Amino acid sequence: MEGLRRGIGWWAAAAMLTCAVVLMMPPEVSAVRYIVGASMGWTSNVNYTVWAQGKQFYLGDWLFFVYDRNQMNVLEVNSTDYENCISDHPLHNWTTGAGRDVVPLNVTKTYYFISGKGFCFGGMKVAVHVEKPPPPPTASPQKSDSPSSLNSFRGQIFVPVLFAVAALWDSFLLLL
Ligand SMILES: *[C@@H]1O[C@H](CO)[C@@H](O)[C@H](O)[C@H]1NC(C)=O
Ligand SMILES: *[C@@H]1O[C@H](CO)[C@@H](O)[C@H](O)[C@H]1NC(C)=O
Ligand SMILES: *[C@@H]1O[C@H](CO)[C@@H](O)[C@H](O)[C@H]1NC(C)=O
Ligand SMILES: *[C@@H]1O[C@H](CO)[C@@H](O)[C@H](O)[C@H]1NC(C)=O
Repeated sequence: MEGLRRGIGWWAAAAMLTCAVVLMMPPEVSAVRYIVGASMGWTSNVNYTVWAQGKQFYLGDWLFFVYDRNQMNVLEVNSTDYENCISDHPLHNWTTGAGRDVVPLNVTKTYYFISGKGFCFGGMKVAVHVEKPPPPPTASPQKSDSPSSLNSFRGQIFVPVLFAVAALWDSFLLLL
């Protein structure tokens, strides 16, 4: 009986280790969800040109607008309306009403977003140039200019996975 239990324990450990290794391998193409304005969110008195500077937006990435739903909104407009802060005829109204709007960047183009209700004139506008992702790197280290985990969720997947694996491991130990 003791031997059987030890056998099961060994297999469980091996299976979980395999699981953990597979889960922790970075996927070939990892989309990034950018919080527009990072910790400031989508609001007035933020220079979004500065926020977007140095970031590479690729097809499949996401923009996440977090804002006061009672005041601002998220409108996609063309370049003319972006320059002039015209919100009368947006290309796309991304406002859902929750103050948390996700925009999939699924077209290679420059996206122009403004907030209506007068906020665009105060600088609440952002232009995002979306390109095709580069071919996957061949056994080279991560690009040094890739966005930091502060601005994206890329790094935040692994911690919950680690916790889940640890919890599983604990319950197996209790069974033995
Ligand atoms: C935002 O910063 C850019 C680059 O520093 C500057 O050219 C632009 O005038 C600023 N925009 C506003 C609204 O202050
Ligand atoms: C943007 O839309 C407005 C209104 O439809 C139009 O007058 C303007 O020419 C458009 N600008 C561009 C760059 O397409
Ligand atoms: C955008 O959509 C929201 C939610 O449907 C709506 O309340 C709002 O009036 C719309 N805004 C514009 C400018 O179309
Ligand atoms: C991009 O996403 C929007 C919103 O989900 C959708 O309306 C549009 O058809 C998509 N475009 C492409 C080229 O997939």
